[in-house]
Order: sequence, then structure tokens, then C-alpha cells
Amino acid sequence: MTSRRVFFTFEITEESHLLHAYRERGGYQALEKALREMQPAEVQAEVAASGLRGRGGAGFPTATKWSFLAKGAPVYYLCCNADEGEPGTFKDRWVFEHSPHQLIEGMLLACYALGVRHSFIYIRGEFDLSYRRLMHALKEAREAGLLGDSVLGSAFSCQIIVQQGAGAYVCGEESSMLSSIEGFKGYPRNKPPFPAVKGLYQAPTVINNVETLATLPWILAKGGAAYAKIGTEKNSGTRLFGISGHVQRPGMYERAIGYPFKKLIYQDAGGIAGGKALKAVIPGGSSTPVLTAEDIETLTMDAEAVAAAGSMLGSGGVIVIAEGTCMVRLLQVLTRFYAHESCGQCIPCREGTAWMNKIVARISEGRGVAGDIERLEGITTGIMGNTICALGAAAAMPVASFLIKFRHEFAYFIEHGRSLNDGRLEIKI
Ligand SMILES: Cc1cc2nc3c(=O)[nH]c(=O)nc-3n(C[C@H](O)[C@H](O)[C@H](O)COP(=O)(O)O)c2cc1C
Ligand code: SF4
Repeated sequence: MTSRRVFFTFEITEESHLLHAYRERGGYQALEKALREMQPAEVQAEVAASGLRGRGGAGFPTATKWSFLAKGAPVYYLCCNADEGEPGTFKDRWVFEHSPHQLIEGMLLACYALGVRHSFIYIRGEFDLSYRRLMHALKEAREAGLLGDSVLGSAFSCQIIVQQGAGAYVCGEESSMLSSIEGFKGYPRNKPPFPAVKGLYQAPTVINNVETLATLPWILAKGGAAYAKIGTEKNSGTRLFGISGHVQRPGMYERAIGYPFKKLIYQDAGGIAGGKALKAVIPGGSSTPVLTAEDIETLTMDAEAVAAAGSMLGSGGVIVIAEGTCMVRLLQVLTRFYAHESCGQCIPCREGTAWMNKIVARISEGRGVAGDIERLEGITTGIMGNTICALGAAAAMPVASFLIKFRHEFAYFIEHGRSLNDGRLEIKI
């Protein structure tokens, strides 16, 4: 395991998002090489050799996802998922603000490999600076002959179309995003059919996260085998870890997969704010199960290791929680979010998120009643595995894990009508 930083770490200046700066750090060389020397299948083979897994949350192997595309279709689409709505996650925004050409080059490489001529970026509506930098970068790329008809004078032509979201978390779910791009309400669709068979406008479609696509230029420039050497055996490469919450230096850190949690928290992020002790960590965005300080004592930031500890690396948003934080009130912030964001299509999610929110709210206001913990547990079981999309599970997992790890705090609040904690250091997310 190595902690080399290779894809995203460069000196950030006023101009690092511009084309000339990207070119100075080797930008668009991978695209030139691919168009000049490689067949699309060879580009796919390099991605397969790299072992790259999707960075959008589920960690699905990218080359395997690409291989599912239905063969022989007249049209294929690529959609870049830039909705980034998961609380605690801000890595894609960082890519747009500091290196948008890296994403554009990655998309062009993916489009070349997959035979895509029209691709889409679905960007979170609230990302104003990201949107402006992206649009400027697309203009620069078009003017430089890097995007549009006959890319770099080759036979390959490709368009990138940008669609802004309107603030719905569920539109980050891939099938909901497709509905939204098509102009419909952002409702998730039943699967099958999967997008690789019937996706955007009924055509086979690949959906990849911003970070996944922005990693491709490095893989094509240096080779998949070189990428596979970074990180762990099963999870190659680096990831963008956004650390927030009660740390001295919250921010974005690119680290090799397999890097220790404690090193990120205490060395990189400067330790816990106010000299407090660590209480808990939500390791991969707000939907991932919470871990205690003991759980992360020797834990590394690697999907397998985090799964063995009972959680997920998700979107790489590490939320740090200091001692003194009331876990009941913290959970209330999360249940309110998920109840608001449920699209309401399926009953277990629509009713379940609303009831979880009501019950956690009443406990946190000192009005909890005996049986509330068991009631909450019953609701989480009713949601899991019984919904159209994974938003239901995303809402249920925090509740279930908070009740396992911090049950005594919920029991105390119900019995005494107040928090077990002093409440002075409440987390803001
Ligand atoms: C409710 C919900 C919200 C999601 N939000 C995002 C998001 O904002 N960005 C993202 O890349 N993936 C999000 N995902 C995961 C996507 O559905 C999809 O798996 C991902 O974009 C695939 O990209 P990858 O293979 O490159 O990881 C979300 C999933 C769910 C269920
Ligand atoms: S799980 Fe929730 S968000 Fe997903 S389709 Fe059902 S109601 Fe909508």
C-alpha cells in the first residue's frame, strides 16, 4: 500500500481550472494517445486492467459495467452523474472547481471506448461556481478542437450536453437522473431493464460518477497496470476523501485506498476540534452506517475493510463526530433530510422515512415514549429491500446503525426527556 497522490493533487492557483494550466500538467495527452494509437477495445482493456471501481457510492467495477452495454445498438449514451447530493460529500464539486478539463478528457476517453457520440453531465443545480467553470472549460475545449466534430482532427466526434438539476437528492439515483434528463419528474425506475440495456431515451447507457471519469486520463496515460499497483489488491487507486465535522482542518484529501482513518483524521485533518476525543465517524456520506471511535482504531479506508467493520466507504465523505455530540439530535438532522427527499413512489420509503423522522424528532424534543426504539427498528426492517431504489435503504441504514451503536443515548432521552450529552458541541452538516 502506498499513499502516492497522483490524479488530483496539483498546485491550486487562480488558473488551475483553465485549459492552459491543465495542459501544462499533462492534460489531454491521454486523449491524443488514445485517438492516435489505440482502438476503442484497447481503451476498455486498460480500464479493465486498472481495476477501477465506481466512485459514486456502490463501488461497482467500471469496466464490468461498461461490458454490460447491449451490443449492436444504433446509439449509445454516457451520462456523468454530478448530482452530488449526499450530505457530507463534496469531492465532485472540487473536480469542477479546480480541474474541469480532467472530467471532460475522461468523458471523451469513455465515449471513444464505448462508441458514444452524445454524452451528458447532470450537474447539481446549486453548484454555481462548478457550473460556470464547467461551461467555460467546455467552451475552451470546443475552441481548441478537443470537443465536437472530428476531435483533434480524428474521425471521432463527440458532444457533451449539460443539464442542471433542481435540488432533488433522488435525482442522483441513476434511473431517476435519466428521467430528469428526459424532462420527466425525477422518479426512479424499476430495474430491469437496466440502463445498459434500456437507458436514456431507451438506448443503452452508461452512468458514471465525476470522480470515476476524471480518473481515466491518468489510467490511459500511464497504463491500467500502473494504476492497479496503487491502493490495495482488491481496490486499486486513490480516492478523494472529503472530511468534515469536528476536525481542525476539514477539506478534500486524495489518498491511496487502504490509508488509515486515524491518519486522515489526526494527521491530515489536524485532529478533533477543541481538543476533544473522537466519538464516532460516518465513513462514506450520511447514508453509511455510523462507526464508533473504537471501530476505526485500526481501520483502513478500503471498501472490504469498512464492510467488515459494518459500514461502507460510499461516496468518500468522512463525517467526524466529537465527544459531547448528542447522537439523537444528530440522527434527527439525517431523518429530516431523508423524509424530505423521498420521492414518495413506494409506500415503505414514503411512509417509513416520514415515521422515522417523526419518532426521532419526538425523542429529540423530550417527548419519546416507551417502545419508540423498537418501533424505529421495525420500520427500518420494513424499508430495507422493499423499495424501487436505494434511497429507502440510505434512509434506514443510519437509523439502524445509530440504534445499534448508541442505543443507550436513545433510551436515556426517552426515559429522562433530555440528552445524555451536554450538547455543547453539536455537529453541523
Ligand atoms: C438516492 C441515491 C442518490 C445517489 N446520488 C448519487 C450522486 O449524487 N452521484 C453519484 O455519482 N451517484 C449517486 N448515486 C449512485 C448512482 O445511482 C450510480 O450508482 C452512480 O452514479 C454510478 O457511478 P459509478 O459507477 O461511477 O460509481 C445515488 C444513488 C442513490 C440510490
Ligand atoms: S425508495 Fe423512496 S426515493 Fe426511491 S423510488 Fe421509492 S419512494 Fe422514491
